[in-house]
Amino acid sequence: MSVQESCKDSVQCHNTPSQTAPAAHASAVVGLQWGDEGKGKIVDLLAQDHDAVVRYNGGANAGHSVVVNKKRYALHLVPSGILYPGKHAIVANGVVIDPAKIIQEIDQLEEAGIDTSGLVLSSRAHVVLPYHKLEDQARETLLAGKTTEQGDASIGTTKRGIGPCYAEKIQRAAAVRMGDLLRPEVLKERVARACTLHRTELGSDLDDKAIVADALAQGEKLSARIQDTTYLLHDLVASGKKLLFEGANATMLDVDHGTYPYVTSSSTTALGIGPGTGIPTRHISRTVGVIKAYSTRVGHGPMLTELDNEIGEQIRTIGNEFGTTTGRPRRVGWLDLVAVKYAAMISGVSELALTLLDVLAGFDELLVCTGYRYQGNVIDRFLPDASDLAEAEPIYETLPGFSQDITACRQMNELPAEALRYIERVESFVGVRVGLIGVGPGREQTIRRDAQAGSTL
Ligand code: GDP
Ligand code: IMO
Ligand code: MG
Repeated sequence: MSVQESCKDSVQCHNTPSQTAPAAHASAVVGLQWGDEGKGKIVDLLAQDHDAVVRYNGGANAGHSVVVNKKRYALHLVPSGILYPGKHAIVANGVVIDPAKIIQEIDQLEEAGIDTSGLVLSSRAHVVLPYHKLEDQARETLLAGKTTEQGDASIGTTKRGIGPCYAEKIQRAAAVRMGDLLRPEVLKERVARACTLHRTELGSDLDDKAIVADALAQGEKLSARIQDTTYLLHDLVASGKKLLFEGANATMLDVDHGTYPYVTSSSTTALGIGPGTGIPTRHISRTVGVIKAYSTRVGHGPMLTELDNEIGEQIRTIGNEFGTTTGRPRRVGWLDLVAVKYAAMISGVSELALTLLDVLAGFDELLVCTGYRYQGNVIDRFLPDASDLAEAEPIYETLPGFSQDITACRQMNELPAEALRYIERVESFVGVRVGLIGVGPGREQTIRRDAQAGSTL
């Protein structure tokens, strides 16, 4: 029997949209460094040309700032496309959701007059529960007491319960998903089981009944938004709608491809979009890799180009490099092009967005790392294992700095020659074109190279 014939009689064969629809033009925005590259701003900018913005990884460890009409919005779980009324804002299955946090975020957005009716949450996204946050904190405290060659042994997490929640997902038996917040009997059983297991680890008094009561109340508040987002996304693709995938965290923090073990617990690259949403990545025709014009890192782990000096302090102050989620001062360093090239390769990026270039105005010289010295050799490949990376030393190329304030520039030809040279060096090293240049936090403070040539974003 042919496939078509067998389908005629099958009740399950009513909907296979993505196999028949023409390939939609989905786009993705991913961070190529250690996070906080300005992904939120780039997503907000591109969202105007898309119908849905989709988060596929991470949780409330992310902090994406968007500045519109001088007003700053800090988004943690809600996709950055929410600021455009009428767009779908989808939190897909790969995200871990803290219900209390997302309710708080929705309330704050609504208070600010933002329409949140387009926000939906996957019934299969896992739920961050109080014991995950307690475990995250307890582990970090314990590890902070252990010294290693590189300082204490903690990861420097955001303490949002991200690692323990993903671990629970992989362990399976006691995990809770958003859909379970609407299934009281399943929820009670799972939470009771989890509390039994976690009491042994945490030695704390976990009140499973109180946790269930809170989770049910949160589920009730969110119930209208909880649904199967995989079918929703495929339906959108089938009807020719454009999806924009918003990466959280960044490549150097990827659980497989980042500087392990100093990483987060999810697939942060464009490779995570498939498992994190149920959408095949062949639909993605544009992948924008976001890089800061320099490097920052929050939390522990090697960062070869770190500037523990006056220049680093100056960049931190001018760039306002303090975490959106935790308020921690970010570690600052020169741009590591070896790391960026590796990250661009992993996600197969088609274009770069170079952000915060304005912050580098005023320095006589700008250094970029173009190789590493490692075990007596000069290498041009990244070393993703933190132990290897910590042994390497950066090799720098020095480029001339620029003194002009560029925050009002909107076209390439308004930029000083030295800034253009910096951009060209990034492109020639990474082998990917810079299509967007950030010259300030505002939505309008962006040079869109292609828009000038007449095409849209
Ligand atoms: P994300 O996590 O990648 O979305 O980045 P964050 O929002 O955590 O951090 C980026 C910070 O830089 C935010 O405060 C943004 O408002 C700001 N920002 C983004 N692009 C630019 C830019 O081109 N210039 C300046 N000066 N600030 C920017
Ligand atoms: P956005 O999306 C910067 C870092 C933490 C820590 C490590 C593990 O705003 O770019 P976790 O709490 O995830 O277990 O912490 O990962 N980290 C981020 N750093 N920006 C982020 O997200 C981050 N998400 C996680 O600081 O070093
Ligand atoms: Mg951030």
